[in-house]
Amino acid sequence: MKSPTSLVLLLSACSAFAAFPISSVPRKSNLPTVANKFIVEVNDVANIPTAKRSLASPHELLYAHLKTRDVSFHVTKEFKAEGLFVGAAITLENPQDAISLQDAPGVTAIRPVRMFDSPKPVFKHVVTGPDDPAIPPDSESTHILTGVDKLHAQGILGSGIKIGIIDTGIDYTHPFLGGAIGPGNKIIGGFDFVGDNYTGLNTPMPDDDPLDQCNGHGTHVAGIIGCNPGNPFNISGVAYEASITSYRVFGCTGSVTDDVLVDALLTGFKDGQDILTMSLGGADGWTESSSAVVSSRLAGLGKVITIAAGNDGASGSWYTSSPGNAINAISVASLDNTVIPLQNATVNGAQHDPITYFDTFPLPVTSELPIFATSNSTTVVDDACNPLPDTTPDLSDKLVIIRRGTCTFAQKVANAAAKGAQVALIYDNGSGFAAIDVGANFTAALIQAADGEFLVQEFVAGAPVTISFPQSGGSTNFPDPSGGLISSFTSYGPSNDFFFKPAVAAPGGNILSTLPVPLGSFGVESGTSMATPFTAASAALILSVKGKSADVAKGVRSLLESTGQRVASSHTDGDPLQTVTQQGAGLVNVFNAVHAETLVSPTELIVNDTAHAVPVQKFTIKNTGSTSKKYTLSHVPAGTALTVQAGTIFPADGPVPLTDAPASVSVSPSSFSLRPGASQTVTATIAGPHGLDASTFPVYSGFIEITDGSQNFHVTYLGLVGSLIDKQVVDDTDIFFGVPIPTILDSQGNVQAGPVNYTFVGLDLPTLLWRQAFGTPRVVVDLVDPNIQVNTSLNTRADGSNKIVFTFPQPHKAGTFSQVPTLGSILEIDFLSRNNEDPTGNGFNTFDVVTPTFANGTTIPNGLYRLLFRALKITGDATNEDDYEVYLSPIIGVNA
Ligand SMILES: *[C@@H]1O[C@H](CO)[C@@H](O)[C@H](O)[C@H]1NC(C)=O
Ligand SMILES: *[C@@H]1O[C@H](CO)[C@@H](O)[C@H](O)[C@H]1NC(C)=O
Ligand SMILES: *[C@@H]1O[C@H](CO)[C@@H](O)[C@H](O)[C@H]1NC(C)=O
Ligand SMILES: *[C@@H]1O[C@H](CO)[C@@H](O)[C@H](O)[C@H]1NC(C)=O
Ligand SMILES: *[C@@H]1O[C@H](CO)[C@@H](O)[C@H](O)[C@H]1NC(C)=O
Ligand SMILES: *[C@@H]1O[C@H](CO)[C@@H](O)[C@H](O)[C@H]1NC(C)=O
Ligand SMILES: *[C@@H]1O[C@H](CO)[C@@H](O)[C@H](O)[C@H]1NC(C)=O
Ligand SMILES: *[C@@H]1O[C@H](CO)[C@@H](O)[C@H](O)[C@H]1NC(C)=O
Ligand SMILES: *[C@@H]1O[C@H](CO)[C@@H](O)[C@H](O)[C@H]1NC(C)=O
Repeated sequence: MKSPTSLVLLLSACSAFAAFPISSVPRKSNLPTVANKFIVEVNDVANIPTAKRSLASPHELLYAHLKTRDVSFHVTKEFKAEGLFVGAAITLENPQDAISLQDAPGVTAIRPVRMFDSPKPVFKHVVTGPDDPAIPPDSESTHILTGVDKLHAQGILGSGIKIGIIDTGIDYTHPFLGGAIGPGNKIIGGFDFVGDNYTGLNTPMPDDDPLDQCNGHGTHVAGIIGCNPGNPFNISGVAYEASITSYRVFGCTGSVTDDVLVDALLTGFKDGQDILTMSLGGADGWTESSSAVVSSRLAGLGKVITIAAGNDGASGSWYTSSPGNAINAISVASLDNTVIPLQNATVNGAQHDPITYFDTFPLPVTSELPIFATSNSTTVVDDACNPLPDTTPDLSDKLVIIRRGTCTFAQKVANAAAKGAQVALIYDNGSGFAAIDVGANFTAALIQAADGEFLVQEFVAGAPVTISFPQSGGSTNFPDPSGGLISSFTSYGPSNDFFFKPAVAAPGGNILSTLPVPLGSFGVESGTSMATPFTAASAALILSVKGKSADVAKGVRSLLESTGQRVASSHTDGDPLQTVTQQGAGLVNVFNAVHAETLVSPTELIVNDTAHAVPVQKFTIKNTGSTSKKYTLSHVPAGTALTVQAGTIFPADGPVPLTDAPASVSVSPSSFSLRPGASQTVTATIAGPHGLDASTFPVYSGFIEITDGSQNFHVTYLGLVGSLIDKQVVDDTDIFFGVPIPTILDSQGNVQAGPVNYTFVGLDLPTLLWRQAFGTPRVVVDLVDPNIQVNTSLNTRADGSNKIVFTFPQPHKAGTFSQVPTLGSILEIDFLSRNNEDPTGNGFNTFDVVTPTFANGTTIPNGLYRLLFRALKITGDATNEDDYEVYLSPIIGVNA
């Protein structure tokens, strides 16, 4: 069957974190960077000594240096934005030449070229027409929720503001996006940096035309900003009089690399865009990718930059996307709209309402099927977890009804399939309702408990009930139980360097907008991709009223944050507010932002971790209105996020558990009056909650509410109980693979137990396999003498014996480790993201030692060695060996 489109992919609990067979690890480096390609940043001309300046540009100086070193390279892009970003994207023919880049004159930074996936909507449905029941009836509730409707009523529509959309391109032929491209149109221009065929792995083929009629993502994004009213769906863009420029950076499918993004960002800047928006990115946790660095600098220069926070909420905290982590950019979280479009099945042979099942599209079942319950009990806990009894009839023409619980959905349907079944409805064992995944060869969906219990009772009673699945007309609007809450797919921050990501939330779950004409013209999608353009357009409304000076633009994030609306973690009374690490400063209220008569700055109070705590924070409140105001301040805590599973080294999956243990916050002064134009500095003293399990690395957060009697504002705080230096970063357990890691895989892909000689011909090479339980600022792998003299706990680990004993984090004593001589460098990665639990996604890291050469290009002489792997702990001192976690490999013989 088709894979279920899902808002939430609900995996049965017992399937979580089953060991992934090590034999399935692909024998290929999988680091999220393009091999041998770097973005090299060089000094501005202004910083080059005059004597040399007359000779050459900084680029030419760099290339000349590489040529004198006989380095084979090609330049795939040059960046010449003086004062912003000067450098080049350079591909080396030999990886070992990286050292020559490092030595080149004027080089200020070398960053690897990261790849970012094309934005996957969490949910997508093409609507058939105005009567398609899948249309959220209150699509424009997104405008009501955020005050956009009131601004529209005041004629504030974003005119005069230029927004650059960096995405898959736009179908500007869409009648409600103006039908054309060029000056005078809604879409005033654009550029295609890559061409239809670009995948992220091949060479871009740029052209002038950013038309996208094959992917559609960018057109959906464009409609959220700019769809004209008067369409059959009664929707409108948030800033539909703004001028849009389309920068196309994705082909029809595939990924994009950082160098293309940097090019698009710099072009947008050069073109004079007021706002640049990017609904793209990849899970990262750091703020340092090239596109993040450039985004942050652009924001610092007075451009509004909005970027998706990411759709990795299921993977838990410390996992927001890059480039969304850009320090000065606005990273955007998603809020769920109020309905989910689902399908109804029809009950025949009994009086019963249609049964709603969790799928966007009808199950591909055209015959009317009699039902068969695998258990006659509606309270059985492990229904169909074991092979069905021999007495079970042939189920090939039956609809099998199974109760959820104990084993995976896939196992239940496999047992039914063994009796010939092809279709099942699984009914919930509580009040759950979500999409399920049972694999490709079976058709199944989840229904609610009461419907399943009804069907089982009918079956037991012998009633002649059959079920049919209407292939059209079965769509229904199911009230989204999480409507108005932060979308569960929204990635959680903060960044590993404790920046406040995401910054704000905007509607992004179940959003109706435009699609390319050939792809259906209108559709519903979900993702932080949808929330991001909403925020960009919100910024356009602000700039269109307040002016587009750099000062106003730099204040947009603070305005949106200070006027944000706090979002709860559930609809249950008494549950805490959602953690700031997922909602940011709250849902944007654009009307309040535009009409704020109070300016608050700064709006993010970052206490940081205990070792670097800044418990005393100051902020300023300024009355920009025309009358005196009396302000009152109060503390409103949000839930404290328990970011790590207690007693383990692993991040807690999303939804990240919250506790309501609040921080204590005192504010001084807590009430005062301000005349027009006057301001007051307030001191907040923030102390994290006590009594929590330190092994959960609790991140506390909340708001200091400021009211003037008619308008409300807030500043938002964030801190960690505990210190990140104490967080183990490398997974040294056997939980993921069933064998301890890090480890070396041999030519057969088996765990290397004793010494092995490698020829480095074909696949006869060692592969380093490891997982990051947490991000690390730096991984270094060095070759060392096999008889390396280190303290004995290291020596006992892997020396030829079959049993590999892992003892890290290495309890070595201060100073001893630094005396270990290394023979040469094999690998260095800065700012590596943590892994998640998805073996087909970002589950683990592999690195192939492809050629027996040192990083400087010198051939490694034949002989016996070990690999010494070191990962720096967060906030660790890169020069202090004690701050690294260490793994020493078994003996690797180079026999080339
Ligand atoms: C894109 O790929 C298709 C199929 O391989 C090919 O026919 C077409 O010529 C390519 N287009 C360009 C512009 O290279
Ligand atoms: C659009 O608005 C018009 C006028 O209010 C209304 O008659 C029509 O039913 C609406 N259409 C949809 C699809 O909501
Ligand atoms: C779908 O089924 C639900 C539950 O029985 C019912 O309330 C709803 O009206 C149905 N929707 C449609 C479009 O028939
Ligand atoms: C339902 O089944 C799931 C999966 O086995 C289990 O985690 C959950 O506790 C069960 N819920 C109830 C209410 O029994
Ligand atoms: C699905 O069925 C096909 C054809 O019978 C088979 O080749 C394939 O391996 C099956 N896939 C799974 C995941 O069982
Ligand atoms: C379940 O109910 C059906 C229908 O009444 C009956 O044929 C069957 O024997 C029952 N199964 C068990 C195990 O009681
Ligand atoms: C938190 O502290 C660390 C260690 O000093 C520092 O590197 C980081 O920049 C700080 N984060 C913020 C947001 O200030
Ligand atoms: C590896 O090669 C060395 C010679 O370089 C040899 O002494 C040793 O026995 C070989 N080890 C294995 C496991 O083949
Ligand atoms: C390269 O590194 C190795 C190991 O550190 C060293 O022995 C060798 O002299 C270096 N070669 C050059 C050309 O620097």
